[in-house]
Amino acid sequence: MSKAIIIDEEKCIGCSLCINDCPNSYLYLENKKAHTHESGCIECGHCYAICPQGAVRMGNYDCMDEAVIPMTELDSDILLQAMRSRRSIRHFTKQPVEKEKLRKILEAGRYSPTGGNAQNVSYTILGSRQKIAEEICVRLFRQGQKIGSPFVRFLKRVRITDDFFFKGAPLVIVISGKNKVNASLAAAYMEIMAESLGLGVLYSGFFVVCARLSRKLRKLIELPRGEEVITCLIIGYPAVKYQRIVPRKALKAKKL
Ligand SMILES: Cc1cc2nc3c(=O)[nH]c(=O)nc-3n(C[C@H](O)[C@H](O)[C@H](O)COP(=O)(O)O)c2cc1C
Repeated sequence: MSKAIIIDEEKCIGCSLCINDCPNSYLYLENKKAHTHESGCIECGHCYAICPQGAVRMGNYDCMDEAVIPMTELDSDILLQAMRSRRSIRHFTKQPVEKEKLRKILEAGRYSPTGGNAQNVSYTILGSRQKIAEEICVRLFRQGQKIGSPFVRFLKRVRITDDFFFKGAPLVIVISGKNKVNASLAAAYMEIMAESLGLGVLYSGFFVVCARLSRKLRKLIELPRGEEVITCLIIGYPAVKYQRIVPRKALKAKKL
């Protein structure tokens, strides 16, 4: 590990913008220059991002020295409309997801926020193991159905078809980690990105259950030690089109 933050004293003008924006008081001003303490940096990069002089480097990252690209403004009405009209997709065409689209989906996860900037979320694309993973899940759920049907009436009528889990979708991404919130946020970012690319997404809670129950499945997906499967995104081109926005319960919000 290199030093987390390196200040170029020649360039630093002592404006203190980095110091004021540091969430961990890792930087301080001395002799009109920014300096760093020994420890306590979470490498969030705010100092690097805010410096008007380009005087900050992040020792453990490749700093591309990119000038900030002005963000094209997101239209909030379009965004809200997209969020209201998104639906879980359970029918997919066979069309594969283009590599470039997959890259963007993964980038959306990578750039999602994580507590303490831990960046501790893993992504596993099932690829050639998708079929066998689904076979394991289907077997498990069929066993469960046999055991549970006498007690839970609706279980009997559920048809656990061979494509019950992944619905014939061409892409399955398992999201794992030690922190549920971080991994869930990453998944939400990825879902929105996928939808903006014309793709449909289904979160699979069923797959999470199977990963919890089946060591064979965990081994197949090479789940990193100490991590658990937090969610699973099933992604592909939708084979269904929805005509209207589904109503939601009244907003539970209060102002104290
Ligand atoms: C964490 C999570 C897990 C889910 N797991 C499943 C699942 O295993 N199978 C399924 O058919 N739908 C699953 N869903 C989809 C929900 O049933 C769906 O979001 C909900 O019915 C609302 O429908 P909508 O997403 O189309 O608005 C899951 C959704 C979430 C957020």
